[in-house]
Amino acid sequence: MPDLAPDTLDLAWVRARFPAFSEPSLAGQAFFENAGGSYACAPVIDRLTRFYTARKVQPYGPYEASRLGGAEMDEARARLALALGVEAGELSFGPSTTQNTYVLAQAFRGLLSPGEAIVVTDQDHEANSGPWRRLQAEGIEIREWRIDPATGALDPADLDALLDDKVRLVVFPHCSNVVGEINDAAAITARAHAAGAFTCVDGVSYAPHGLPDVGALGADIYLFSAYKTYGPHQGIMVIRRALAELLPNQGHAFNAAALTKRFTPAGPDHAQVAASAGMVDYIEALSRHHGGPDSGADAARFAHAAMRAHETALLQPLLDKLAARNDLRLLGPVDAAARAPTVALDLGRDPGPVAAALARRGIMAAGGDFYAVRPLAAMGIDPDQGVLRLSFVHYTSAEETRALWAALQEVL
Ligand SMILES: Cc1ncc(COP(=O)(O)O)c(C=O)c1O
Repeated sequence: MPDLAPDTLDLAWVRARFPAFSEPSLAGQAFFENAGGSYACAPVIDRLTRFYTARKVQPYGPYEASRLGGAEMDEARARLALALGVEAGELSFGPSTTQNTYVLAQAFRGLLSPGEAIVVTDQDHEANSGPWRRLQAEGIEIREWRIDPATGALDPADLDALLDDKVRLVVFPHCSNVVGEINDAAAITARAHAAGAFTCVDGVSYAPHGLPDVGALGADIYLFSAYKTYGPHQGIMVIRRALAELLPNQGHAFNAAALTKRFTPAGPDHAQVAASAGMVDYIEALSRHHGGPDSGADAARFAHAAMRAHETALLQPLLDKLAARNDLRLLGPVDAAARAPTVALDLGRDPGPVAAALARRGIMAAGGDFYAVRPLAAMGIDPDQGVLRLSFVHYTSAEETRALWAALQEVL
């Protein structure tokens, strides 16, 4: 493997912020299933521990522990919103992205009339597909924006052919969890808006590689999962104010006026909401440590660029090697800059034993359909057989990608 291109991320500093890297039971194992769920950063774990130890009471009460708990939950919302370029009231927490999309689809059921249409894709994880498709039973027309079966790519020109004045919503992924290609969410949203439709963007596979500026993307809804973005097990959902006020309330009737309660019918997981502030602690500290801005959207943008530079430097040589093999099919772009380091391989056979063989060699990875049944089928891959997926993030080291390549050569 050629030398990896240099980048400027201080990896020793980064890895010292993730307790998993000093956990003895994980020593000697390289983690390549980050798209399933990332390691948690220390500020998140510290805040979670503090909440469970000192603030585990009903929040927003008049006593100190309760006041501190509520304030920390508000802090998490406000600082995440700032980093994402939206208002605090536009950000909601929910148990998971899948639960959030089911609630959103129920809300759209109340907004849309029979005969109106939603555009879905066959590139999405099922979380941003199935809940919307079910609205067909309510008389909503579902139009499918289909990927190119050879490349897995979504062509925006194909979307134009699906848009007309019946379409109220276009849902699509910022990045698929098996194709890996980064879709131009701003351009797609602009096309949808021009046709009078809202957009709902699944950012679950994108956000771990740098928080997006949701305000700049223009998306009406942006979803991601904190547990894949160095945080606790929460879904995070931005719903821009104009749409949030239009959609019918999904919570208790008396909470209808509170935007942050309209789409979260269950009581929130207080500790996890509060601990989500640790995600921003980490991102801002990463920016500061590398000479970037102190806080807010500027720090998030700086950290995003630093993460991506490191990831692409490690990813390109790996993609080149994989693309050169004729015994597997590499899904998605060969250009690292065009994709996330979430690399799915169609081996033409069951990837399970291969993942198990990798595990014996100290590589943590997995095989399966990853709930991306539709994109796999659309690319001619039997979802029951599935793919081997190798996914990493900015905390992954060149030594680990080299170890991965060495192990792959033995097991493929
Ligand atoms: C791209 C993508 N979207 C949505 C989801 C669902 O997220 P959650 O587990 O928070 O429901 C996943 C989970 O793997 C995913 O990879």
